[in-house]
Amino acid sequence: MLIRVLRAGLCGTDLHLEGWDAWAAETVHPPQTIGHECYGEIVEVGKDVRSAHRVGQRVSVEGHQVCGYCRNCLAGRRHLCINTVGLGVNIDGCFADFVAVPAMNVWIQPDWIDPDLGAVFDPLGNATHTALQWPMVGEDVLITGAGPIGVMAAAIARHAGARYVVVTDLSDYRLNLASGAGADLVVNVQRNNLADCQRELGMREGFDIGLEMSGSPAATAELINNMNHGGRVALLGLPKEPYPIDWGKVITHMLTLRGIYGREMFETWYLMSSMLGTSDTLKDAVRSVITHRFPAADWQQAFTTARSGECGKVIMDWS
Ligand SMILES: NC(=O)c1ccc[n+]([C@@H]2O[C@H](COP(=O)([O-])OP(=O)(O)OC[C@H]3O[C@@H](n4cnc5c(N)ncnc54)[C@H](O)[C@@H]3O)[C@@H](O)[C@H]2O)c1
Ligand SMILES: [Zn+2]
Ligand SMILES: [Zn+2]
Repeated sequence: MLIRVLRAGLCGTDLHLEGWDAWAAETVHPPQTIGHECYGEIVEVGKDVRSAHRVGQRVSVEGHQVCGYCRNCLAGRRHLCINTVGLGVNIDGCFADFVAVPAMNVWIQPDWIDPDLGAVFDPLGNATHTALQWPMVGEDVLITGAGPIGVMAAAIARHAGARYVVVTDLSDYRLNLASGAGADLVVNVQRNNLADCQRELGMREGFDIGLEMSGSPAATAELINNMNHGGRVALLGLPKEPYPIDWGKVITHMLTLRGIYGREMFETWYLMSSMLGTSDTLKDAVRSVITHRFPAADWQQAFTTARSGECGKVIMDWS
């Protein structure tokens, strides 16, 4: 499928690649186009494509391309494919006028999904996949890290019926975004601690569900310290290197820790679409995460803004 790119989202992976750190130099073999979060229009359909895709349809792209023949792929658990190839990381990506992807990776979007919203389905999918690991109705939820994904997870948790949604970060700018998206309480861990916040909310036993969305060892330790016994923790944030965990606490408090990667293909996509389609509150909350929009020609400014941290999601307009 050939897609004309209309919007592309910037994420931490792109900053690593553009900054050409050790991971980038090891992973990418230039010349290669980067970018993996995008929304666009189908302009050409391969002759062997048997699906319902047609020229002119508006679509979002799933950036993980799976093999189709490993054990998990055959079982329908494509997000667990052992041969996943990353758009814009291992192959040419979407910071371009056109991007070519397998038909299976193309999610047809209805008219009521505007281009900006369509461009954040990849990170919204990370937030949804993480937040919906366990039922949230009536539970107290702690989210560490108010980056774009943490903020969207707060909106999903609110939508999914959590009692209290508490979000931590080091940045007041980002915590304000989390408040706007539906968090009941935001905590700047440089000034306040979670034990006090629990008291303020009248919580007596600790959080039931934790979503780690910062990649910070300090945040993970804080999260583990504030879980109720039997609490469940989904970890999406990617740490820079291995780090110690208080395993004594995990064991004696019978915590469940679960790593999360990508999105479920395509159950997460289905759930995102149906939740957005039935809740204007959720739609507005997700849209509020997009704080900056730049024409693609100003991509350097887009990268500088994303690097500053004084932003939510940064979108480049390729139309
Ligand atoms: N597992 C996956 O498939 C997957 C996919 C996408 C992103 N990620 C990871 O998920 C995380 C969230 O993504 P994002 O785009 O929102 O990232 P981001 O870097 O924009 O946000 C991370 C936030 O964590 C905050 N933070 C740092 N230290 C903290 C601490 N001690 N306590 C609380 N907050 C702290 C930062 O200030 C920042 O706002 C990142 O680590 C990213 O690498 C994982
Ligand atoms: Zn991304
Ligand atoms: Zn596979």
